[in-house]
Amino acid sequence: MPDIKEIVREKYGQAALRVTTGGSSCCGAAAALDGCCDPITSHLYDAGQTGRLPEAAVLASLGCGNPTALAELKACETVLDLGSGGGIDVLLSAKRVGPGGKAYGLEMTDEMLALARANQRQAGVENVEFLKGEIENIPLPDNSVDVIISNCVVNLSADKDRVLREAFRVLKPGGRFAVSDVVTRGEMLPEIRSSILMWVGCVAGALEQNQYKDKLAAAGFAQIDIEPTRIYRMEDARAFLTGEGIDVDAIAPQVDGKFMSAFIRAVKPIACCGPGCCS
Ligand SMILES: C[S@@+](CC[C@H](N)C(=O)[O-])C[C@H]1O[C@@H](n2cnc3c(N)ncnc32)[C@H](O)[C@@H]1O
Repeated sequence: MPDIKEIVREKYGQAALRVTTGGSSCCGAAAALDGCCDPITSHLYDAGQTGRLPEAAVLASLGCGNPTALAELKACETVLDLGSGGGIDVLLSAKRVGPGGKAYGLEMTDEMLALARANQRQAGVENVEFLKGEIENIPLPDNSVDVIISNCVVNLSADKDRVLREAFRVLKPGGRFAVSDVVTRGEMLPEIRSSILMWVGCVAGALEQNQYKDKLAAAGFAQIDIEPTRIYRMEDARAFLTGEGIDVDAIAPQVDGKFMSAFIRAVKPIACCGPGCCS
């Protein structure tokens, strides 16, 4: 059984190095395509947001949504970005919460951490801290974070239940989970789920949307909502799968409309003693 985490670590470490050496961060199927990027990771931010960020932070963007635009961040809040990559969403969050707030980025690869810290220095933002670690074992105390954001990372974890339990643990009561992720709708073909390359490229590790809701509820979350932000059509899938050695014509019609980027919201209830005890 391949070690998913090591494959993910290697892939995103290489993506960070490509940005550092002046290239594009594209990985997974998109890296094999000319005219990168794929329909999942491209055109997520408007110019008003990216214009004030270091170019390398924008080039390293590998998410599938724009969580800071949807998370309703407020001044003085503490935000944690799970799998912060080159730091784009952490830098955007830091501006939103202001000097009285704090934005943490949690990332497991040294290469992405180095890139994110260089981007922070270039942006001149002080209320930011990039932490080395894994989202399955968050290095922050219980009840210490107002908002958890993440951009296309939970789907990469082989232990999503643990990630969600950890997110619940570090959130303050009333804290918000506000995450962009790829989810699927209905049954998905085993050919897609079993492809490690697709997993790394954000699709095969994605949860079915009802499964995602069940897992959030099992972790203790309430007010769970999944809002599609981009629904992928057959032609999107065709471009994405090219180069993966997958018979696109055979599977594309069955993939049509079955995977999407979504904004996933949930709240840690205020009066709560732990998962399973809240009504
Ligand atoms: C799809 S990229 C997204 C990066 C960033 N959120 C963005 O929007 O550009 C996934 C990032 O999460 C990191 N990552 C993946 N699995 C992780 C884990 N289990 N723990 C910590 N970081 C992880 C990867 O190294 C990579 O930098």
